[in-house]
Amino acid sequence: MLILGIDTSCDDTSAAVVGDGSRIISNIVSSQEFIHKKYGGIVPELASRRHIEMIWPVVDEALKSAQTGLDGIVAVAVCHGPGLIGSLLVGCSFAKALCFSRDIPLVAVNHLEGHVFSCFLEERRPQFPFLSLIVSGGHTSLYRVEGFGGYRELGRTRDDAAGEAYDKVSKLLGLGYPGGPVIDKLAQDGDPGAVDFPRAYLPESLDFSFSGLKTAVVNYMRHGRQVPLNDFCASFQQAVVDVLVRKTEWAIRQTGIRTVTLAGGVAANSGLRERFRSMAEKGNVEIFAPSVRLCTDNAAMIAAAGYHRYLSRDFAGLDLNPAAYLPL
Ligand code: KG4
Ligand code: ZN
Repeated sequence: MLILGIDTSCDDTSAAVVGDGSRIISNIVSSQEFIHKKYGGIVPELASRRHIEMIWPVVDEALKSAQTGLDGIVAVAVCHGPGLIGSLLVGCSFAKALCFSRDIPLVAVNHLEGHVFSCFLEERRPQFPFLSLIVSGGHTSLYRVEGFGGYRELGRTRDDAAGEAYDKVSKLLGLGYPGGPVIDKLAQDGDPGAVDFPRAYLPESLDFSFSGLKTAVVNYMRHGRQVPLNDFCASFQQAVVDVLVRKTEWAIRQTGIRTVTLAGGVAANSGLRERFRSMAEKGNVEIFAPSVRLCTDNAAMIAAAGYHRYLSRDFAGLDLNPAAYLPL
């Protein structure tokens, strides 16, 4: 059963064909990095214009490389939020028109639900219930996942998302956008103990906060960076990873759930993945981290989550409206 997934929530135009909610047949991502790089962050108006240009070619390529036409597709799953409203509108309008013209069902998928289900696209899959740490440019949250559609938020960031902190620090250092991959690479040859950046552990809470860390970086830079760039990046990364790991450990202790999945762009981070790997080796905790290309935004994860909604006949109407703010 083939589902066409579409994601235009932020700055990537993506379309994918997924079989039975788990088999990736095609997963095309057209990046807008080259457009936003010079601004040091995403310019929403430019993002939506580029989505308009790319949506047809990207969907076309997804269908062609899956060697199927629209006749082989049983439904279209589209991300309807959260995200940039202008960007979401492009994907939603396109999906609605496609469903109307082909008379096939439309399925609306929350972007975060897509991230949660990205790990079901790998061969090794978690069993319910599990904890899901979603860390991206727009979100940093911990969820308890009981089953499909059963999500409880245990904690979320009170200010910046982890990826946002990476991107802002990268801009400050003149390293460009997106900051995560560059800082991650530089950090690999650095000393994580070189600068003692603050960690906001927020006792008694599973919430996160990264704005203090960002301010500490700004203040440190104001006095002139005294350590090599690699050491600086490694120290920043260590501060972010320490918080993400410690909060997840607290959530494991509080809930007794020992299966943890990672998702979102920051889950591609080598330092974070390494720490979770060693957590799994040390204790009886099972960690599921999707491959790097499934951590960042992609439409295969939207199709994977959409499959379950399709099975329960949870269809959206052609009056579906996207929403910039859409809790899971
Ligand atoms: O999930 P995603 O593609 O889009 C959102 O839904 O936000 O995540 C993008 C974020 C960006 O902030 C980017 O800097 C960060 O993920 N990122 C990373 C890495 N790769 C991407 N952060 C840290 N280390 C990485 N290797
Ligand atoms: Zn995302």
